[in-house]
Formats: sequence, C-alpha cells, structure tokens
Amino acid sequence: MEITLIAAQSLDGFITRHAEPGTAFTSSEDQRHFAAALQRHDASIMGGETYRVSRAFIRDRLTLARRRVVLTRAPERFAGDAVPGCLEFTAEPVEALVARLRSLGHRSCALLGGAQIHQLFLARGLVDGLELTLEPRLFGRGTPLVDGLADARLQLIECRPLEASSTLLARYRVLRA
Ligand SMILES: NC(=O)c1ccc[n+]([C@@H]2O[C@H](COP(=O)([O-])OP(=O)(O)OC[C@H]3O[C@@H](n4cnc5c(N)ncnc54)[C@H](OP(=O)(O)O)[C@@H]3O)[C@@H](O)[C@H]2O)c1
Repeated sequence: MEITLIAAQSLDGFITRHAEPGTAFTSSEDQRHFAAALQRHDASIMGGETYRVSRAFIRDRLTLARRRVVLTRAPERFAGDAVPGCLEFTAEPVEALVARLRSLGHRSCALLGGAQIHQLFLARGLVDGLELTLEPRLFGRGTPLVDGLADARLQLIECRPLEASSTLLARYRVLRA
C-alpha cells in the first residue's frame, strides 16, 4: 500500500496560520485540488487533533469508497462517531495499522496530518510520497509540517502552479537509504 502525505503549507513551512487551528488559510485552488486528490485514495489516516478541528467537515463527506482512520490514544472517547468500514478510531501502533489496512486490500492511503502524525510516519520510513500545496504566504509561526525529528530525502516529481495561480503543487517521492 502506497502512503502519500498530502498537506497545504505556507512557504515558510507551516500547516496552520499562527495558533489558529484548521486550514482556513488555504486557497480555493488548493481546496479543489485536495478534494480531487482524495479521490485517488481508498484509505486515509489522520490524527485526533486534525479530526477534532475538522469533525463536521469530515462527517459531512463520509463515503464507503474510502476508509478514514483516526489515530488517537483514547479511541473509546470517539465511539459515538465511529462508522464501520468508513470512519474508525484506533490506538494501534502505526506499523500494525499499515499492515492491517494492507491486509484489508487497501492500495493507496492518504496521510492527512497533522504535524504529529506526519512525524510518526516519516520517522518510521512509512511515507512513499508527498503532495504539498505551497501557498504564497509567510506566517513566521504556526504548526510545522513535521512536529519532531525526521530526516527524509526527497526527489521532486512535479512542480506546477495550481490553476495558473500563485499556489504551487509540489510532488515528491521519498528516497530510501
Ligand atoms: N494545512 C494542512 O494541510 C493541515 C493538515 C492536517 C492538519 N492541519 C492542522 O494541524 C493541526 C493539528 O496538527 P497536530 O500536529 O496538532 O495534531 P495531529 O497530528 O492532527 O493529531 C495529534 C493527535 O494524534 C493522536 N496521536 C499522536 N500520536 C499518537 C500515537 N502514537 N498513537 C495514537 N494516537 C496518536 C493524539 O490524539 P488524542 O489526543 O485523541 O489521543 C494526538 O493528540 C490542526 O490545526 C489541523 O487543522 C493542517
């Protein structure tokens, strides 16, 4: 199963604007790109905090075409939100989660953040590619793309403006040591 990290960030590397939770800073071009990019994946993984921030948006768009998994240390807190095969909450170690999704037949998984979850997967060498939207914004402060240590080397696959705007889409493959 291929895992692709999909995120939108400022040019100085932040996935939130200052301490403001969520992705209200992203352009309409990115929002259209993100919706289309998700269609290419049959599973997605995100962290508990990203889920809490975008809960209503996520629950409005649930589809059996894509399993959504939320990593949380307290899955029981979300029991009322779970929808079998569609929206699940787990405290599994990430390697076990990836192996389980693979055994269920999933072929392509979108890693949807946030920064803690990016680090968990990058540090274990579990990310195959990155699809980054680079918004023409500078924030100085915010949540970084990766929270914690990582040391990934990337090869650029594609870089182009989204819909002829000043927003760039940059796609990378993660190089293995
Ligand atoms: N611009 C973008 O593309 C983008 C993308 C995604 C998110 N964001 C933003 O980024 C912010 C969230 O990022 P974040 O780094 O603070 O949080 P996060 O990575 O979304 O979630 C962190 C949470 O994940 C769970 N978690 C972490 N490590 C775990 C482990 N080993 N096992 C099980 N669960 C684990 C915990 O959930 P519990 O607390 O439930 O235990 C933890 O609080 C939000 O503001 C969101 O809107 C932006």
